[in-house]
Amino acid sequence: MYRNPKKHLMIVIGTRPEFIKVSPLVRLLRKSNEFRVTLCSTGQHREMLGMLEKELKVNINVDLNIMRPNQTLNGLFVKIIELLDAYFKEDKPDMVLVHGDTTTSFAAAMTAFNSGIAIAHIEAGLRTWDLQAPWPEEANRHLTSVIADLQFAPTDTEKDNLIRENVDTNKIIVTGNTCIDSLLWIRDRLGEIKQTDIDQAGLGFLKKEDHVILMTSHRRENFGKSLDAICQSILKLAKEFPNYQFVYPVHLNPHVQNTVHSLLSNIPHIHLIPPLNYTYFIWLMNRSEIILTDSGGVQEEAPALGKPVLVLREVTERPQALETNNVVLVGTDQQRIYEMVSNIINDDQLRSEMSHPVSPYGDGKASKKIINALIQWFHR
Ligand code: UD1
Ligand code: UDP
Repeated sequence: MYRNPKKHLMIVIGTRPEFIKVSPLVRLLRKSNEFRVTLCSTGQHREMLGMLEKELKVNINVDLNIMRPNQTLNGLFVKIIELLDAYFKEDKPDMVLVHGDTTTSFAAAMTAFNSGIAIAHIEAGLRTWDLQAPWPEEANRHLTSVIADLQFAPTDTEKDNLIRENVDTNKIIVTGNTCIDSLLWIRDRLGEIKQTDIDQAGLGFLKKEDHVILMTSHRRENFGKSLDAICQSILKLAKEFPNYQFVYPVHLNPHVQNTVHSLLSNIPHIHLIPPLNYTYFIWLMNRSEIILTDSGGVQEEAPALGKPVLVLREVTERPQALETNNVVLVGTDQQRIYEMVSNIINDDQLRSEMSHPVSPYGDGKASKKIINALIQWFHR
């Protein structure tokens, strides 16, 4: 029977950031003579993932289409394992690659482990050391580290975290974060964007002279009091600084939608918009003076674009950014957020000091390094 000599890699993704961050790797792998790649989406996200295929120029080969409105973590977990188990039996990959800390990542890694398939973990070793924040992601990432055969750490900090947990150093390769590969790929295309594209993307309300503050928030541990406080601080800021436009592409999680729309709808200078295509989100980041976020990916991208970032969380697994001038862990206290944003608006020098491009997470060559490590692993 003919057997394809290329090693079969199955990359499993489920959410928006996973797709964005594996896309440069998939594009490169698909040109490689060594590997055959299947990109499998669990469909943990539907709209937010589906809209990326065309712009990232990466097609998904298999979609398990599991998303349900208001899905529970355990419901997701069980479904992913059941469907992937059957699929791995049929397609027999030589290795399963997962990314980051989502339910998809850990469930796919666990399914591969139970099926005796090798596992590579991209973006391994990030830690807050607090299992409740981010929840459940901190646990997903820890648990994946226990069973992965190859661990791609963005920087030496994550490598040290893994060594502290007794992960064999031979399994750890420092590669940079593919997030930066993806960002640079998109940034090179920003020059092609015309005003008509911006209008079509739903951002035509922004005038040339507008000052812009961008915000995103979706973390489960912020639901309830913290998300309320974040919204209240935006309300106060929008009243105090009418020459600023506050733009909030609202995550599709119904908890986020309900809270944000009930507190911030129909307020002058606050624009609640649907999630943006990646290209236009990066365009908007670039156009913004200040960014408020609890997103992991945005914490990596914004400093590389030279933007001041206030992280709306009590802890972060991305401490390198805090060592730059750009990023401050502001937390979720209403008054503190308000004061910090006001300071940056009012103090030109502070704003300028926080606006130098810095890239602690990589140089855009992470995907290449990952492929070299994969080749070495299969030839070991
Ligand atoms: C998930 C990840 C989180 C990641 C985030 C990226 C877990 C546990 N959480 O959180 O780590 O930071 O994705 O965005 O894996 N929904 C839609 N359409 C979509 C996507 C989501 O309607 O395209 C709604 C659905 O009602 C869904 C809900 O959002 O049930 C929650 O989605 P889920 O993937 O469970 O959690 P996220 O909050 O998106
Ligand atoms: N992003 C996007 N459109 C949006 C908001 C974010 O394309 O409206 C991108 C952002 O540039 C980053 C990724 O989505 O690459 C971050 O995803 P998210 O914040 O949902 O998840 P996290 O990174 O926190 O896991």
